This record gives sequence, structure tokens and C-alpha cells, in this order.
Amino acid sequence: MRSLITHFVLLASLAANAHGSALCKNHPSSPHWPTESDWQSLNQSTQGALLAGVAPASSCYDGNPLGSDLDCDTVQENWFLSQFHAEQPASIGYSYWANSSCVAPNDYAYDDQKPCQLGGLPQYVLNATDATQVATAMAWANSRDIRVVIKGTGHDLNGRSSGAYALSIWTHHLQRIEFDPHWIRPAFNSTENVAIAQTGNTWGRLLKAASDVNRTVVSGQDGTVGLGGFIGGGGHGPLSSLYGLSADQILQATIVTTDGSILVANDEQNQDLLWAIRGGGPGSYGLVIEYVMRTFPLPSNVVVGNLSLSTQENGTQEASWDGLTTLMRALPDLTDSGLTGFGIGTVSQSKSSNTSAVGRQVDVSMLFYLFNSTTAEWTSLLSPLQQQMAAFSNNQSVQVTLSEPDILPQYLDLFDVLNPTASSCGDISLSSSRLLGRRELNDISHDTVKDYHKRLTTAQIEGKTARLVIGLQGGKGPRNVEDNMRGGLTPAWRDAYLHVLVTGSSIETEGTNPRSALQAAADWTNAHKETVWAEWAPDSGSYINEANPSNPNFQHDFYGDHYSRLLSIKEKYDPQSILYVQAGVGSQDWDYNLQDGKLCRK
Ligand SMILES: Cc1cc2nc3c(=O)[nH]c(=O)nc-3n(C[C@H](O)[C@H](O)[C@H](O)COP(=O)(O)OP(=O)(O)OC[C@H]3O[C@@H](n4cnc5c(N)ncnc54)[C@H](O)[C@@H]3O)c2cc1C
Ligand SMILES: *[C@@H]1O[C@H](CO)[C@@H](O)[C@H](O)[C@H]1NC(C)=O
Ligand SMILES: *[C@@H]1O[C@H](CO)[C@@H](O)[C@H](O)[C@H]1NC(C)=O
Ligand SMILES: *[C@@H]1O[C@H](CO)[C@@H](O)[C@H](O)[C@H]1NC(C)=O
Ligand SMILES: *[C@@H]1O[C@H](CO)[C@@H](O)[C@H](O)[C@H]1NC(C)=O
Ligand SMILES: *[C@@H]1O[C@H](CO)[C@@H](O)[C@H](O)[C@H]1NC(C)=O
Ligand SMILES: *[C@@H]1O[C@H](CO)[C@@H](O)[C@H](O)[C@H]1NC(C)=O
Ligand SMILES: *[C@@H]1O[C@H](CO)[C@@H](O)[C@H](O)[C@H]1NC(C)=O
Ligand SMILES: *[C@@H]1O[C@H](CO)[C@@H](O)[C@H](O)[C@H]1NC(C)=O
Ligand SMILES: *[C@@H]1O[C@H](CO)[C@@H](O)[C@H](O)[C@H]1NC(C)=O
Ligand SMILES: *[C@@H]1O[C@H](CO)[C@@H](O)[C@H](O)[C@H]1NC(C)=O
Repeated sequence: MRSLITHFVLLASLAANAHGSALCKNHPSSPHWPTESDWQSLNQSTQGALLAGVAPASSCYDGNPLGSDLDCDTVQENWFLSQFHAEQPASIGYSYWANSSCVAPNDYAYDDQKPCQLGGLPQYVLNATDATQVATAMAWANSRDIRVVIKGTGHDLNGRSSGAYALSIWTHHLQRIEFDPHWIRPAFNSTENVAIAQTGNTWGRLLKAASDVNRTVVSGQDGTVGLGGFIGGGGHGPLSSLYGLSADQILQATIVTTDGSILVANDEQNQDLLWAIRGGGPGSYGLVIEYVMRTFPLPSNVVVGNLSLSTQENGTQEASWDGLTTLMRALPDLTDSGLTGFGIGTVSQSKSSNTSAVGRQVDVSMLFYLFNSTTAEWTSLLSPLQQQMAAFSNNQSVQVTLSEPDILPQYLDLFDVLNPTASSCGDISLSSSRLLGRRELNDISHDTVKDYHKRLTTAQIEGKTARLVIGLQGGKGPRNVEDNMRGGLTPAWRDAYLHVLVTGSSIETEGTNPRSALQAAADWTNAHKETVWAEWAPDSGSYINEANPSNPNFQHDFYGDHYSRLLSIKEKYDPQSILYVQAGVGSQDWDYNLQDGKLCRK
């Protein structure tokens, strides 16, 4: 029956193609779009869990055209908070990916001449509470050739949790958590201490629950991020340099595939699917309902403090770049000593002391943490670096300071240090990133490394700030993961020490539409960032969840030599490609046009 329907849909689309239009997923003006009563029958077969897609800011527009039940003041107050969008069924954190079609008046893309439309938000949302319901909806959409998107929190930096004319499956209410210290690993018969957690949980919830049983998990550094997208892309955080990425901890998953099957993937069955969901890209192979993941003992303390480099007024700009370069080249050894952390370099323009020319300088602020250790150990690891960085300073033109570290007795307290304010969303730069190891940092000269940093931190608009985000998230953790725990995650992580992200592009929506604005920012990023990474680190890759999704070389850069195997798994479990995500496996065959909302085969 299913193959008959597929056959019919295929014939219908081929016929459409023969008449000149492309092979597109069904949309409201195509003849095969379900009728209102057809949608209601889906609603009935999912216990009334179907919601109409609503833009929360609709109440800020005349007549509240999409029927938001939140008042506009509430929407504006919360517009730049990730948590707010996570709690709305259809909304996402970075609204330009949804065509900025119904944004709050305080959004940078707001235009009072534009009406409130659904734009790139989904037509319908399934408020999922169990696997059977998800399976029903998935098979329903698949047999009608309708695009499906999966939304956990909507945090995705690349808009992969929304899509025009899609049925969205919202996993927020799938929040069960259990712990089993004696879980038996299929095929191995070994005992594992695990957490069994549904995808709608955030890392904040899971960390807290694990801590209550004296365990912890490999999470990110922000508690509001959700399990699904994070694990699907890899997932790095405070413990990844010790234990590997989050995807490296997955022992089993329960997955709903596009034909409506509910599959358990582990070392005994559906091994290919287990392999793919371990970092082979989120939202691509099916919807993961639940993960069985390794837990770890809680660190008995965290020693945390910071190191910063600041350029004094009229300071020697070159010294700031030399200081940054010295820092970057020291990080692999420091990571091997057990130190982890992250930091930010902020690039700005100023007048140099001995010329009147305007030049660029970088100020750096790093947070370093060390587990199960002492303040003396922390300081002895970092003070030599402080001195080396300061050595480039000419008459104190650059100041490098090392704080007195604090000792946190509870691991969870680290997250308060890492997130002093509620996590925000909606900024307007496309990022670009690379995984870097000793080959890129230590095996070439100081001056070459310095030059790459300067070239990578230019800004699209003269005078605007560009940032460099430096994460110590690789090292022996990812390198030492057993072969039988490794999955689709790009092999570039295995010899990386740092995940380095740069900003600098500007998405300028004024006088144009989001599709063109995003394209212009992507073109600039490709020309000024991706080309430099490709020259510096051609054999490495990028962390898919925090990368430039318009990278034209995404197959190599996001998946490495796992791409072809991932593609065959994608074709097996999603033969109709209803689960399209930008830069996802197989996405090169599709064009998602934000302007007309259609998703069509190229
Ligand atoms: C404030 C903030 C902090 C961050 N910190 C970190 C960090 O410390 N470390 C890090 O590695 N990353 C970090 N990220 C990036 C993060 O990994 C991505 O944003 C990721 O996509 C978030 O996943 P989500 O499920 O919360 O988001 P969503 O936007 O809901 O989903 C993201 C993608 O995953 C897919 N997906 C979600 N759930 C499932 C599922 N159950 N099955 C299949 N596909 C699914 C969606 O379809 C979409 O493609 C951060 C992001 C933000 C916004
Ligand atoms: C689905 O059914 C429920 C309960 O009957 C109803 O409240 C809801 O409005 C329906 N959804 C849609 C999209 O009509
Ligand atoms: C996206 O927004 C532009 C205006 O900025 C509009 O012309 C276009 O129709 C919108 N696309 C969709 C799918 O709503
Ligand atoms: C979604 O489902 C949950 C669980 O049944 C319910 O508590 C919640 O109110 C629903 N959300 C919406 C927006 O309908
Ligand atoms: C699995 O391990 C248990 C205890 O470690 C042992 O009793 C059992 O015989 C093993 N089973 C298999 C199939 O190896
Ligand atoms: C966790 O550890 C504390 C202190 O060692 C102990 O008192 C408590 O009983 C433990 N809790 C559990 C659930 O094991
Ligand atoms: C820290 O020490 C505890 C207690 O000895 C141990 O269980 C844990 O594995 C250690 N963690 C790290 C990160 O070294
Ligand atoms: C640096 O670290 C100290 C100690 O942990 C802290 O009090 C201070 O706020 C930090 N400063 C910055 C800029 O992060
Ligand atoms: C920096 O340079 C400007 C212009 O040359 C001068 O006005 C200013 O006093 C200088 N500041 C310091 C601290 O030397
Ligand atoms: C002055 O500028 C030159 C050329 O840019 C540079 O080599 C030199 O180090 C600078 N000197 C000082 C004191 O900043
Ligand atoms: C160092 O800087 C101070 C204050 O800006 C200035 O007075 C002094 O002359 C400088 N010394 C040298 C050797 O440049």
C-alpha cells in the first residue's frame, strides 16, 4: 500500500514536472495539499494534538491575523530570550530563517509596512506526547509528500527547526528522564551507568536530575539547549575535552522514521541508524524520541578563573595579535593538561600609537576551568602563558591579567558562572567556524597563525565589531572515544583541540527580503571566511551546529569522509526527503526558497 502511494505521488510530481514546474513538496496552492477535513482527521488520529501554526507576534499587528494568544507587550519583552521561543509551538529563536514574516516591533527586521504572515513558520504543529502519535503524523505527511520539520527548543542557529508549508513535530512535552546504573549494552553484554531521557528535555533539566543521583552527563554550557539538535550535531561542552562529545555517549535511541516505524537502534539492531544519529546531522534521518546515554561521576570541584588581554588606549595593535596568537598556540598543551574553557576575542578599530592610520586590535577574555584540582595548579598552568602573551607588549601597550581562580564545590555551579544572564537569541550575524588541532596551531609559524587570525576577523561593514569564539572542546576526549561508540560525527573532531567560530557578516534586511539578505551575508562569509579556513585547515572541518550553513563545501566540511555512508542511510530511511534541513545530508538536491516558501528539487 505504502509503495503504491509513493508511486502515485511520484507519478503526480513527474507529471507536474513535465508541464514545466519543479518537483516540489506539496504546499497550500498545490492540488495535492490536504483538505481541511483531511487535516482534522490527522488531528483525530493524534488525540487532538494538532495545532495551527501561529506567530506569537501576531498580536502586535492590526487584527491579530494569526490569532496569537499572547499580548504584544509580553512578546516584545521576551523576543530576544531563547526560552520564550522554546515554549511557543511554532516560533524559533532566529526569525530571519522564518522570513521575518511576523516579528515583534522591537526586532531589527520589523517593518510597519509589512503584514504579519506565517512566512517560514510551519502550517501545523503536532504537540507530541508519545511515539505512536509521532509515527502517525510522520507516516501521514510522508504519504502526502509534505515537508516535516522537527522542533525541540527552536534554538537552532541555522533555522533548521522551521520551514514554510511544513508539518512541525514539537517535542517539548517529551520530558521523561530515568537513570539505570546497571543497563546492559546489547551485543556487548556490558553494564553501563546510563540516563534514559526523552528528547524534549533541556540539558539544564537533565544535568539537575543527574546531579540528584550523583552523576552527570556530557552537555553544552547553556542549560536551555535541547537534547535532539545538540546530539544530532555532536554536542560539545565543559566535559567534552575529557569524555568526547555528547553524540559519543549514545548507547541506544528510539527513533520514529518517515514511514511511521518506531525503531530501537543499538548495537544489535538498526546499527546504521544509531551510527547516523551520533552526530551525523540533526533532523535528517527520523525523529529521536529517547536516548540512552552514558553518565559520569560528578567532578568533586571546579577551579575557575579568567585570563584577559586588553589593549591600552593608543596601544600597539600588533602586540594584541601576537598575544592572541601565543594564546592559541598554547591551548593544545593546556588542554592535554586537563584545562578546559572558552573565550571571546573582540576585534575593534583604533588609532595606532605611532601612525595616524586606523588599524584593528583584538581584546581577549578567556574563562578557564579545571576539575578536581586546586587554585595553585590552575595558576601554575596559566601564569607562564600570561607572561609569554605580555612579552609582546611595548611599554604596557597591552595588559594581560590572570584572575585569582575560584573553587566551586558543586559542578552545577559552573553553569551559573557560564550563564550569568538568561540566554538570548536573534542576533544578526552568520557565523563561520573550524575545528583546529596541532597541525593548524603548532606545526606552522607564529606569524602565519597570526595572519590567519587577522584575515578571519574582518567585518563586512567597516567599523563593526567582529568576534572570535574560542572553545577548548576537543583533545583527548574526542580522540580516545572507542571505535564502537563513534558514529556519523565528522572525523575532524578526532584530532581537533579547538572549535573556533568567527562572526563579522551583517544580515541587512532593509529594502530587501530575508532571502536576499541572507544570500548577501552568505556570499560575503563564503568569500571572506570560508576561503581562509579552507586555506588554513583544508583537511579539517567544521562543527555543523555552529557553522555557516551556506558553506558551498558543506559535505566535506560538516561530515568529512562519512558523507557517502550518511547519504545512503538518509536514502534508506527518508527516501522521499520529507526531512529537509539546510546543509543536511542530501540537501544539495533541494532548494528551499524563503521568498515563495517552496521546497523543490533542483
Ligand atoms: C544559547 C545557545 C547556546 C548553545 N551552546 C552550545 C554548546 O554549549 N555546545 C554545543 O555543542 N552547541 C551549542 N549551541 C548550538 C546547539 O547545539 C544548536 O543550536 C542545536 O541545534 C540545538 O538543538 P535543539 O534541539 O535545542 O534545537 P532545535 O532548534 O529545536 O533543533 C535543532 C535541529 O535539531 C533537529 N532536532 C531536534 N530534536 C530532534 C530529534 N529529537 N530528532 C531528530 N532531530 C531533532 C531539528 O530538526 C533541527 O534540525 C548553542 C545554541 C544556543 C542558541
Ligand atoms: C484538534 O483537535 C483539538 C481537540 O478536539 C482542538 O482543540 C484543536 O483546535 C484541533 N486542531 C486544529 C488545528 O484544528
Ligand atoms: C517573505 O518575505 C517577503 C517580504 O520580505 C515576502 O515578499 C515573501 O512573500 C515572504 N515569503 C513567504 C513564504 O511568506
Ligand atoms: C501540549 O500538550 C501538553 C501535554 O498534553 C499540554 O500540557 C499543553 O498545554 C499543550 N500545548 C498546547 C499549546 O496546546
Ligand atoms: C551477560 O553477563 C552476565 C553477567 O555479567 C552473565 O551472567 C551472562 O551469562 C552474560 N550473557 C551472555 C549472553 O553473555
Ligand atoms: C550522593 O552523594 C551524597 C554525598 O556523598 C550522599 O549523601 C547521597 O546519599 C548520594 N545520593 C545518591 C542518590 O546516591
Ligand atoms: C573527580 O573526582 C571524582 C571523585 O574521586 C571522580 O569520581 C571523578 O571521576 C573525577 N572527575 C574528573 C573530571 O576528574
Ligand atoms: C574573572 O574571574 C573572576 C573570578 O572568577 C570573576 O570574579 C570576574 O567576574 C571574572 N571577570 C570576567 C570579566 O569574567
Ligand atoms: C591617544 O592619542 C590621542 C591622539 O593622538 C591623544 O589625544 C590621546 O591623549 C592619547 N591618549 C593617551 C592615553 O596617550
Ligand atoms: C610603529 O609601526 C611600525 C610599522 O607599523 C611597527 O613596526 C612598530 O612596531 C611600531 N612601533 C611602536 C612603538 O608601536
Ligand atoms: C610609556 O608610557 C608613558 C605613559 O603613556 C609615557 O609617559 C612614557 O614616556 C612611555 N615610555 C616610553 C619608553 O615610551
